[in-house]
Amino acid sequence: MSRSSLKLFNTKLTRLLGVRTPLVCGPMAGAAGGELAGQVSAAGGFGFMSAGYGATPEDFKKQFAIARSSFQTPGSAHSAAAKFPIGVGYLAWQLEQPKSTLVDLLPLALEHDVQAVWFAFGEDLARYIQFVRDHDMRTGNGKKTLIFVQISTVKEAVIAANEWKVDCIVAQGVESGGHGAGDALPLLNLLPSILAAVPADGPPILAAGGLVNGGHLAAVLTLGASGAVLGTRFLLAHESLYSDAQREALVGASSEMSVRSMAWDHARGTLGWPAGIDGRGLRNSLVEDFEKGVDIEILQTKFREGVKTKNVDHGIVWAGTGVGQITEIQSAKSIVEEIHRDGISHLESAAQLYS
Ligand SMILES: Cc1cc2nc3c(=O)[nH]c(=O)nc-3n(C[C@H](O)[C@H](O)[C@H](O)COP(=O)(O)O)c2cc1C
Repeated sequence: MSRSSLKLFNTKLTRLLGVRTPLVCGPMAGAAGGELAGQVSAAGGFGFMSAGYGATPEDFKKQFAIARSSFQTPGSAHSAAAKFPIGVGYLAWQLEQPKSTLVDLLPLALEHDVQAVWFAFGEDLARYIQFVRDHDMRTGNGKKTLIFVQISTVKEAVIAANEWKVDCIVAQGVESGGHGAGDALPLLNLLPSILAAVPADGPPILAAGGLVNGGHLAAVLTLGASGAVLGTRFLLAHESLYSDAQREALVGASSEMSVRSMAWDHARGTLGWPAGIDGRGLRNSLVEDFEKGVDIEILQTKFREGVKTKNVDHGIVWAGTGVGQITEIQSAKSIVEEIHRDGISHLESAAQLYS
């Protein structure tokens, strides 16, 4: 191990979670399951798996078992005896659907003693936060499930810190892969605006959107973030649920190919996001057809065929603006270790810039 790998970060996030690297793999519907979450945490970061759009409780338990097995391998940053150091992310608008099976998956995660939960994209996040707090009170064993919320405005951040009293705020800029607020500020402006508005003794603020490497981690830490959330970079991990075809499309993509659109949600039939939310992914023929005004039914047929034939030009490959800087498919462990090492070395170089 190099000297930079041996140095430890010390931020509000590393102290809150008890981790070595202030790096979080965001919950990614359709991409982050138990294996990715577990491996990121075992390597010294912190991984979230996603409850997605309607996993069954059986699927969910299987993913937990896979995640747990990550902590039994030699070299894991956590001992097997420690609490379950992963998180689960919920799309709140999906929890709000009248017949949502996801509602059952929230108590299930709490019963499995996950260290954290993450809520995003809903009209009433406070309701789910209260559900988690009540659950912790009822079990009466003194355990506090950490609550992360992902937001994209200063107003939401202030409410999350002062009213909901969450444990961690994820500030997601417009650069982010997957879904997000289409009119969010770029991260370089969003993050300082949130840091200025939230009390200094408030929860850690994490930066998300377009971040893929150790230089990016060092940059957001120097701006005042307590850590970075990465999504797209981890889609390229062997452990993500993405197909080889999707991973290869990401390796070959330039950052200019990362665009925001509602084309994919129309084609897939996943409409119902809160106002202002769209998705960022690799421009393909579905986007081009959508922009030309091609009938939605034609898009839907094309998408269904694309899924069957694994044709990414007719499918969905979510990707943030950092995609062009990722050139390799690696294990989650090597991604975490590389970002740790490079993050420290960027901070050391920055310290040479003044005397
Ligand atoms: C494929 C994919 C699925 C995602 N699904 C979710 C999700 O279910 N819930 C959520 O809050 N964020 C979701 N996100 C956003 C990530 O948690 C994270 O904030 C984002 O990926 C950071 O931007 P980056 O991709 O540029 O690193 C998703 C992102 C991707 C790429």
